Amino acid sequence: MDFHPDLIRFLKKATRVAALTGAGVSQESGLRTFRDAQTGFWQQYRPEDLATPRAFARDPKLVWDWYAYRRETAKGAHPNAGHYALAAMEKIIPEFTLITQNVDGLHRVAGSQNILELHGSILKVRCSECGTYADEWDEGLDVLPRCSKCNGYLRPAVVWFEESLPRPQLDAAVNAAQTCQVFFSIGTSGVVHPASALAHTAKAAGAVVVEVNAEPTPLTAKADFVFHGRSGEILPGLVQAVWGE
Ligand code: APR
Repeated sequence: MDFHPDLIRFLKKATRVAALTGAGVSQESGLRTFRDAQTGFWQQYRPEDLATPRAFARDPKLVWDWYAYRRETAKGAHPNAGHYALAAMEKIIPEFTLITQNVDGLHRVAGSQNILELHGSILKVRCSECGTYADEWDEGLDVLPRCSKCNGYLRPAVVWFEESLPRPQLDAAVNAAQTCQVFFSIGTSGVVHPASALAHTAKAAGAVVVEVNAEPTPLTAKADFVFHGRSGEILPGLVQAVWGE
């Protein structure tokens, strides 16, 4: 794959880079997006029956079972070459911020460290009342796990539909977008707010915007460099072309 010499030059001298990732990055690890994962038994439900505060209030057991199912799928998955290429970039670039909408934890498994999980993580749980995170919990029981501090129900530590994003992570993501020299948008359809606004924030602040996606998105026309294809092929190719690694 050919990479424009300007892009190679920008990246070689960049000291601050931010990358936003979405479900497409995990697609080559065999993980499906939320809606695509609703197969078999889960097909009968609407997303709002499984992933909203209302759903949890109405039927917490159903919501726990759905996330237990997705957690098992995520745990069985392995990072792909795209995840590893992003981890490699973090090691090379002095300030590299990885902003992800994915809840599968695969960026961390691949070795990325400076990660802003905008939509939380299915590998973690927290109290639905006091917010305290729990390291251990019993799963698959008929009795739902409760918080050791306040006895409230524990819940998956993800951002559900109708909920707002965690403020510290969102603020840090906006800051990274405003201060980076190069911003990547990778494997995200760019339609879910507020993450989708980050590339525009970066562009308005003067960053070079690079899109890597299987298909065109609303960002494509605004991006400075666009690569249509698989992130697991394009990103390693780019790392090799820029840094020879
Ligand atoms: N490489 C690059 N891009 C890919 C690949 C791949 N191998 N496979 C798919 N894509 C692209 C798709 O073409 C699509 O444009 O990744 C994008 C994934 O878009 P979405 O499924 O909408 O995922 P995302 O943008 O992460 O969605 C945001 O919406 O469902 C909610 O909370 C959920 O975090 C999620 C949010």
